[in-house]
Amino acid sequence: MQTISERILSLKTQKNAVILAHYYVPDEVQAVADFVGDSFYLARVARQTKADVVVFCGVHFMGESAKILNPAKKVLLPDPSADCPMAHMATAEQIAKLRRETDDLAVVCYVNSTAALKALADVCVTSSNAVKIVGALPQKNILFIPDRNLGAFVAAALPEKKFYFSGGYCPVHAFLPAADVAAAKALHPAALVLTHPECEKEVRELSDFLGSTAEIISFAGQSEATEFIVCTEPGVLFELKKRYPQKTFFAAGMVCPDMKKITLEKVLRCLEEGAGEVEISEEEGARARVPLARMLELG
Ligand code: 13P
Ligand code: SF4
Repeated sequence: MQTISERILSLKTQKNAVILAHYYVPDEVQAVADFVGDSFYLARVARQTKADVVVFCGVHFMGESAKILNPAKKVLLPDPSADCPMAHMATAEQIAKLRRETDDLAVVCYVNSTAALKALADVCVTSSNAVKIVGALPQKNILFIPDRNLGAFVAAALPEKKFYFSGGYCPVHAFLPAADVAAAKALHPAALVLTHPECEKEVRELSDFLGSTAEIISFAGQSEATEFIVCTEPGVLFELKKRYPQKTFFAAGMVCPDMKKITLEKVLRCLEEGAGEVEISEEEGARARVPLARMLELG
């Protein structure tokens, strides 16, 4: 009798499918994936894959991005109801109003956003390339949607630009209390604090390093420190412990309930039945592809 993971692996070969997983999905799902990474890495893999079917173990906007970049492929989400609340935290009206009122403006859209919002943007960014990409834009004025915290992190690095925000936030990162991080520091004084820029300013200010999940992982590997307090979704500890078993990691972040909806059973069902297919209209896909492709070129 095959285990569920073995059934997934044999069906994957039969269907010429590739499994992509974000660091925040459950450990056992990361373990069956062909590629595990942060949003930027996974978008690049999704664009380059030769597989016929892409199973995206992550939230809805990630599957949408894979489909936008690869319209001819079948992109399946193990649970299409796994949605990122922040992805909806900007409106077409906010964008249109600022475009009307402000000259020399670029609309920069974090990939953690719906396809409909991306379609209204000039360029997309992820947490690992936002400073580089916004810094390279010719425009002085930047409307950064939807994450006000990543936006503030980018603005602090680029004082020559003027920033506007839509006011969105990730509830998982933004509600992490700075007092919890301070308490973890008091308990583990030798540990470095590694933080995702989606966290609030008070947490960012307590941190030794700010970066995307992939950047946090590589920083922990290169650092001479042996203990780390990790202020992002704790799914990232699976990769950290696998790569650096001699180091110690303390999770300070909260669980993302949507990422945790992705189970092995749902991955299997989507391979068996082709369930959870991502659909995007040709028109919206074509418009959203422009800022996403620009990100891949600039990033
Ligand atoms: P990244 O490190 O991929 O930017 O992760 C942030 C996130 O919240 C993904 O949902
Ligand atoms: Fe969205 Fe935050 Fe969950 Fe990432 S961690 S999917 S930004 S709610």
